[in-house]
Amino acid sequence: MKFFIDTANVDEIRECWEMGIIAGVTTNPSLIAKEGRDYRKTLKEIAGIVDGPISGEVRASSVKAEDMISEGREIAGLHENMVVKIPMTAEGLKAVKQLSSEGIRTNVTLIFSAAQALLAARAGASYVSPFLGRLDDIATDGILLVEDIMAIFEGYPEIRTEVICASVRHPMHVVECAKTGADIATVPYKVLVQMMKHPLTEIGIEKFRKDYEAVFGK
Ligand code: E4P
Repeated sequence: MKFFIDTANVDEIRECWEMGIIAGVTTNPSLIAKEGRDYRKTLKEIAGIVDGPISGEVRASSVKAEDMISEGREIAGLHENMVVKIPMTAEGLKAVKQLSSEGIRTNVTLIFSAAQALLAARAGASYVSPFLGRLDDIATDGILLVEDIMAIFEGYPEIRTEVICASVRHPMHVVECAKTGADIATVPYKVLVQMMKHPLTEIGIEKFRKDYEAVFGK
């Protein structure tokens, strides 16, 4: 399973790219708004840092397929690595079909059921993003959804759509996603940092330092 980082913060993106742990980036309207910067400029800056798929979402106010299609073309035109993120609606599916026929990659977002994932795949989505954390929030097992999608897609080899586990809230979500064989998990910076840490690693580093310095000095 590859990792994308789920943020629009360029400092977080740069740091994780330098560590070699991420292969792409996902953003959404809330994440872009949080940074308070120009949307297109931010996406371009991200594309200058990461050499991998970067999901930029159509405007949150766009509802009609024709609007999503023209915005999608604009987002795709920003950089060859751009992927157009489109909400899972009937109009969104029309936009996915058109954009994919033009060779523009799409990521269908806000997926909460296997049925939605299957429709998005059939419309031509390059990626589908099931939202685990938001399902867990309403007492529904998000990991079961990823397992279902993986099982269905595996049964139909002609489906090339990749599954991005999204709305990831903690390291165990990541581990559980990896066990399903999901292609990608898009993970917030905070969770990537949590994944790096283990108390025994900290204790081990401190013991090695003390033992070494006791004999050889600083
Ligand atoms: C996915 O692409 C979304 O940006 C994201 O994972 C949503 O996560 P949230 O439910 O924590 O907002």
